[in-house]
Amino acid sequence: MVTTRTPLIAGNWKMNLDHLQAIAFVQKLAWSLKDAKHDHSSVEAAVFPPFTDLRSVQTLLDADGLSLVLGAQDLSAHDSGAYTGEVSGASLAKLDVHYVLVGHSERRTLHAEDDTVVATKVAAAHRNGLVPVICVGETADDLETHGPSAVPVAQLRASLAGVPATAEIVVAYEPVWAIGSGKAATADQAEQVCAALRQALVELVGADRAAATRILYGGSVKSTNIASFLREPNVDGALVGGASLDVDEFARIVRFESHVGV
Ligand code: PGA
Repeated sequence: MVTTRTPLIAGNWKMNLDHLQAIAFVQKLAWSLKDAKHDHSSVEAAVFPPFTDLRSVQTLLDADGLSLVLGAQDLSAHDSGAYTGEVSGASLAKLDVHYVLVGHSERRTLHAEDDTVVATKVAAAHRNGLVPVICVGETADDLETHGPSAVPVAQLRASLAGVPATAEIVVAYEPVWAIGSGKAATADQAEQVCAALRQALVELVGADRAAATRILYGGSVKSTNIASFLREPNVDGALVGGASLDVDEFARIVRFESHVGV
């Protein structure tokens, strides 16, 4: 199948890099991609800094006319009010944030975000004009008990409960056992689950929307394995954690087409 979906390489910085480090990082990344004549319309590159960096990065992207896209790592389910410590989708939208991660496994496990919370956050993102990057994935135990795709598909189904079928979303399949472990899934494993997720999308949002939706793989992605994932018909990009903190490595991942001849 020939896909018309533009690959998305998304760098999830997690709780790393302060706003000064973020400025230096983004400048260097933009320079490195420009130097390599990277075509942002053929592979989209996005960074997901911590909240405290967003204003600085937004100002830089705007001032220098850079084509990198801005994402946030989380948002509140609410738009305003007495929710101490939370950040609303409305505030993120004001900062030209385009994407927002929802339901990352670290939010699910460390902050007890269940499928209901994830669905309300997906709805909050949509309400505020943000594109949610909905993270789904099975633990090693889930894999043994339920097989590879049952849990991610159930999570995806639940996450869409509060949005219309027309809502733009990105799905990120991240097996929990592959995150930060250095043990990425194989390309075959990733394709199997991404294909099942796309099939679920056909039922949930219709064939056209499903065909247009990007499904990313995440979990120990590096410049040396990115090409194998992107060769798969149902994998449309990557959500990169650790390797997104090294400018040169992240730039190589974004430029996967040029150095491996996919
Ligand atoms: P990793 O993290 O690339 O360090 O495995 C991926 C993620 O958590 O999004």
